[in-house]
Amino acid sequence: MKTVYKLGAAVGLALVAVVGAKVFGGLVYSAAAPDEAPRVAGAMTFRKAATQSGSASAELRPGDAALGKKAVKVCAACHTFDQGGANKVGPNLFGIVGAKIAHAEGFKYSDAVAGHGGRWDAGNLGKWLTNPKDFIPGNKMSYAGVKSEQQRRDIIAYLETLR
Ligand code: HEC
Repeated sequence: MKTVYKLGAAVGLALVAVVGAKVFGGLVYSAAAPDEAPRVAGAMTFRKAATQSGSASAELRPGDAALGKKAVKVCAACHTFDQGGANKVGPNLFGIVGAKIAHAEGFKYSDAVAGHGGRWDAGNLGKWLTNPKDFIPGNKMSYAGVKSEQQRRDIIAYLETLR
């Protein structure tokens, strides 16, 4: 009886050892292939960021002007983008990147925007597009902002082409 018990214990231990070796071996394997694993994971996150434009992801690609051009359709209710285009509810945005804040001749800006000073560099545009009311309180652009950082990058990349 005692021998059978001992035998059982030995088999049990051997099993634990085998399973343990497999798990440990797996760890060693993934640690030994650091190049491959993150590269694949990175590609997957990239696709995710590209399809879910609303999600904030650490894996952002540089702005894509072609996508930005599509994204500014929502702005076109109030803005024109072509050279010499009319001011509508909002000012024409041709050449906006690098221009001074309140850049358009003949457009009646709010006092807040007219008196703000500074230039529309990519940083300021990013803040404005994230939340116009936070960046220049008292402005009259009735637009909540662009939630997706990726989409803001795309829009700014498109605005940069307007020169
Ligand atoms: C509902 C109308 C409306 C929409 C939609 C809108 N804007 Fe505007 N925008 C305005 C108005 C009005 C102003 C002027 C604000 C002020 O003077 O307070 C303005 C100002 C701006 C300015 C500053 C221009 C300057 O000469 O300093 C930028 C840049 C801008 N908008 C970009 C955008 C972009 C990009 C979008 C789309 C993502 C957008 N706006 C959507 C109405 C709008």
